[in-house]
Amino acid sequence: MKTVAKRRFLETFNELILKPRKYDYKVMFPGPTGTNSVEAALKLARKVTGRPHVLSFTNAFHGMTLGSLAVTGNSMKRQGAGVPLTYTSSMPYDGFFDGQTQDFLWLRHALEDSGSGLDKPAAVIVETVQGEGGLRAARASWLRGLAELCHQHGILLIVDDVQAGCGRTGTFFSFEDAAITPDIVCMSKSISGFGLPLSLTLFKPELDIWKPGEHNGTFRGHNPAFVTGTAALEHFWQDRRLESKVAGLASQLHEGLTQIAARTEGAHVRGAACSRASTTRTTKWQARSRPSRSTAACWWKPPGPRARSSRRCPR
Ligand SMILES: Cc1ncc(COP(=O)(O)O)c(C=O)c1O
Repeated sequence: MKTVAKRRFLETFNELILKPRKYDYKVMFPGPTGTNSVEAALKLARKVTGRPHVLSFTNAFHGMTLGSLAVTGNSMKRQGAGVPLTYTSSMPYDGFFDGQTQDFLWLRHALEDSGSGLDKPAAVIVETVQGEGGLRAARASWLRGLAELCHQHGILLIVDDVQAGCGRTGTFFSFEDAAITPDIVCMSKSISGFGLPLSLTLFKPELDIWKPGEHNGTFRGHNPAFVTGTAALEHFWQDRRLESKVAGLASQLHEGLTQIAARTEGAHVRGAACSRASTTRTTKWQARSRPSRSTAACWWKPPGPRARSSRRCPR
């Protein structure tokens, strides 16, 4: 159903976000949560390519519904599915082997060798910064390498920007600095600007082969969230002020976390912009180094599947 609020949101998103960045995406409203956006992305990628298999990454988190869980790494969350999670394979995220292995060694060989046993996938789904997976950021060069490999082999690239998008890494889309154009992008959380449930799945126009009503749902786009989402876009994305504020906060955060990490042997800082953590291999350290919740721009949250980092996120 078209409403004035929906039209205004779409026009504002196009004028303030897509056009200035030269991205040509169709905007779809799946159900209102992040996992709904991921489900729509996976479904579309499989439908467009006619291939069922999807590749994801170690420590990835994409949501709690069955399709999203199948591309999520955390074994505890996966066990909750109660059924086999199929048609997916996990591969090493950037830094999984501590920089000891050439990027995409396995993927490149597996795609090029017909004896590898890997069925050609429909898509690769990736977070540019793994939030729930422990605030690990992929390097821009790694993301470019992944995008190139996908392009060479006709595999769709899905970026799940549910957690890292909307300015959390400084730019609106977390992949802007890497200068890549994913085929499909998942967005949710802060896109409504006010904590109301809203989510988007963006995709290249040529991928739009949905039939009318083929992916429907009662709350696909929700008027109060369109209104607050439009206001947030107008308030934060008319100019570069938010981006420079995030850059300032990010360096403050990096400095603070570096000081915390310096107190513990083996600890280091990881992540990007305002999605950063100090992390170590000992669990005892976490309680001792827990920062006060009063830090101006951030709040503390236990990170990742193994929760051994001090994690701070923008409020
Ligand atoms: C990267 C990513 N994708 C998907 C989701 C799922 O979002 P939701 O909890 O709204 O379903 C999350 C949630 O934190 C997330 O971080």
